[in-house]
Amino acid sequence: MGRYDLALIGFGGVNRALAALICERGKRLSAELGLALRVVAITDLRAGSLVDTEGIDLTPLLAVEPGELTFAGMTGGSADPRNEWVIREVPADIVVEATFTDPTEGEPALSHVRWALESGKHVCTTNKGPVAFGGRALRQLAAERDVSFEFEGAVLSGTPVLRTAQRMLGGLEIAGVQGIMNGTSNYILGRLEAGIDLATAIAEAQELGYAEADPTADLEGHDVQLKLMILANEVLGADLRREDVFREGLSNITQQDVQNAMSKGLRWKLVGSAMRQADGSVDARVAPLALPAHHPLAGISGPVNAVAFHTDLLGVVTVSGPGAGRTETAYALLSDIIAIHRRRPADGNTALRRVPQETHHG
Ligand code: HSE
Repeated sequence: MGRYDLALIGFGGVNRALAALICERGKRLSAELGLALRVVAITDLRAGSLVDTEGIDLTPLLAVEPGELTFAGMTGGSADPRNEWVIREVPADIVVEATFTDPTEGEPALSHVRWALESGKHVCTTNKGPVAFGGRALRQLAAERDVSFEFEGAVLSGTPVLRTAQRMLGGLEIAGVQGIMNGTSNYILGRLEAGIDLATAIAEAQELGYAEADPTADLEGHDVQLKLMILANEVLGADLRREDVFREGLSNITQQDVQNAMSKGLRWKLVGSAMRQADGSVDARVAPLALPAHHPLAGISGPVNAVAFHTDLLGVVTVSGPGAGRTETAYALLSDIIAIHRRRPADGNTALRRVPQETHHG
C-alpha cells in the first residue's frame, strides 16, 4: 500500500473537488491501486490554513459553502494562509497546487511549486502559470531533488494529453500539435451557434465552472496561449516564451459570423497550433479558424477539448475529452498522484521515486 499525506494549496473548486473524490473513492483507490490518501494541510487565500498531521476530517469542511469557510478558530487553524510555512515545514509527501493562474509571471504559484520541490516534496498542479513560465527549471529542480513534478491538468484538465504524448507516442516523430484547448470559448461558440447571446453564454460557462474568474482570459486566447506554450515545450521540446506565441481571440467573431459559417458547413473554433518548421524552430499561434467538417477538430463541441498530434508513422492522432470543470480537473490531480504512486524504483524509473513507507503513519 502506498500512503501519501497531501498538502492542498488553494481550496477553491478544484481542490475541494479533489477532497470530495478522496472521501468518495478512498476505498476504491485503495482496493484497485493500493493507494491511501490523507490530507494533512490546507491553505486558502480566503479561508486561511488548517494543519492536522493525523489527517484532516474533510467531510465537515465540504459541507460549508466555499465563501463561508474559515479555518480561524479550528484546532490547527489560522486566518493566515501561511503558504510558505505550510509548504516547507508541514510533513507532507505531495503538495497539490491549485491556486489561481497568473498569466504574466505564474506567481505566486511558481514559488509554491519551487518551495515544495526544494523541500523534497512531490508536486502536482493544475496551474498553468508555473509550468508555462518555469516548467524547464522546475523539472530540473524536481530531478535534482529526486521527486516528481506532475501537471497533467494544466493543459486539458483531466483528459490525458501530456501523458498520452509522453507514454503512448514514443518512437514517433511529432511534427506538430493542434488543439481546441479552452472549454469556455468552445462552449460559448456552440451556444452562439444555437442562437444564445454572448452575455448569457458567458454566465452559463461561469456557472458551470468552466470559465476563468476573468473570462477574457478564455475568450481572448490568453488561456490557450499558456496551454500551447506548455504543450509545445513538453511535446515538441520547444522553449517558447509568451511573446513567442501569436494570439488572437474571439472578439472579432460575431454571432452572425458563427451562424453564417454554419450554413456553409464550417464551424468557428479557437485553435492553438504549434508546428515544427524546416529550420527546427516551432511556430506557435492561437487564432479563430473556420474549420471544414472533415477537420479532426471540427466536431469537438461544448466544453470538450481535443488535441491532434501530427505524427510521421500514424498520421493525425486525436485525443479528446473534457477540458474544464471542477471534478474533471480534480481527476487530473488524482491521475498525477497515481503517476507518482506508480513510479516506484521497481518500475525501473529511478529518476523520480520518493515513495513513502507504509510505516509512515505510525
Ligand atoms: N477556463 C479554462 C477553460 C479551464 O475554459 O478551458 C481551465 O484551464
